Amino acid sequence: MNQPAPFFLDCDTGIDDALALAYLLATPRAELVGIGTVSGNISAAGGARNTLDLLKLAGHPDIPVAVGAHDPQVGTFHGGAPHVHGDNGIGGVDLEPSDREPVEGTAAELLVELARKHAGELRVVAIGPLTNIAEALRLEPNLPALVAELTIMGGAALAPGNITPVAEANIANDPEAAAEVLAADWDVTLVPLDVTMTNVLEESHRQELLASDHAVSQALGEMLGYYFGFYVDIFGRACSAMHDPLAAAIAVRGVELAVAPKVRVQVDTTGGPGRGQTVCDLRGQYVGFPDQRGARCRVVLSIGEEFAPHLLGTMQAAWLSEDEVMRTSASPGL
Ligand code: RIB
Ligand code: CA
Repeated sequence: MNQPAPFFLDCDTGIDDALALAYLLATPRAELVGIGTVSGNISAAGGARNTLDLLKLAGHPDIPVAVGAHDPQVGTFHGGAPHVHGDNGIGGVDLEPSDREPVEGTAAELLVELARKHAGELRVVAIGPLTNIAEALRLEPNLPALVAELTIMGGAALAPGNITPVAEANIANDPEAAAEVLAADWDVTLVPLDVTMTNVLEESHRQELLASDHAVSQALGEMLGYYFGFYVDIFGRACSAMHDPLAAAIAVRGVELAVAPKVRVQVDTTGGPGRGQTVCDLRGQYVGFPDQRGARCRVVLSIGEEFAPHLLGTMQAAWLSEDEVMRTSASPGL
């Protein structure tokens, strides 16, 4: 990807969603052309407000944001994850409110519109439950041919789940939608807990963000204070998993993949203890993961480099050069 590729982000903003958004705004490899929200960490409407406020803070007021599904395909929205992301979804941090409203129409409609406009080029990154993506598939059955790539943060291959013993939150919050999306006629990259729980952001990284003179970095550093609090019981120290920003970086090919076999993946939609599990056929590991005939899902199990320096470095590079540009244009005679 030498030219920035058009990207659509579907999210449930969310602290790690906020990091993914900041990364996608910062990387020169992506041009964010639209954002949809879905209920997950917070309601779809609340996620849209957080997204609009973050876009204002980041100085990107023109990217359209559409509110998507409030409820999953089966049942109703469970109320979010305030114990992980805070009551407002972004760790209680008060951002200056944007005066923009979400665009008319649903997230699925916006995705379809943008997929038609950027036919064969649009990349989709889904970092919340897959309700909107499944709805878009029903609105436009040709969506798989219009979309260049779909990257999903979700699932657990060999790792335990994070919301049940076997299920990851994004998939478990709408297993029927996930099953529909993974069974559709497209190649998918799945970024599961196996790789997002083994690439963490440490307190030293958070301090770097707080010390930055860029407002978005500072806000992210503050949000992460809340997120780290949740992860103390899980990792035994103040740090956090990096689910969504890692999926974003993989989608833009910002990080090198190490172990990422293409295998068959099915989602358990039964009502039993396996509900929401991503059943990944990793039996081939004993002979070095030969691609399975007909398999459409690349499951990222590990990456080939440390992720936190890439994440922070990408944001610093973008925002430092913005500051430099401003300083240069403000200096007479330069
Ligand atoms: O399980 C982690 C995922 O669930 C992340 O996308 C997080 O933001 C939540 O949506
Ligand atoms: Ca998310």
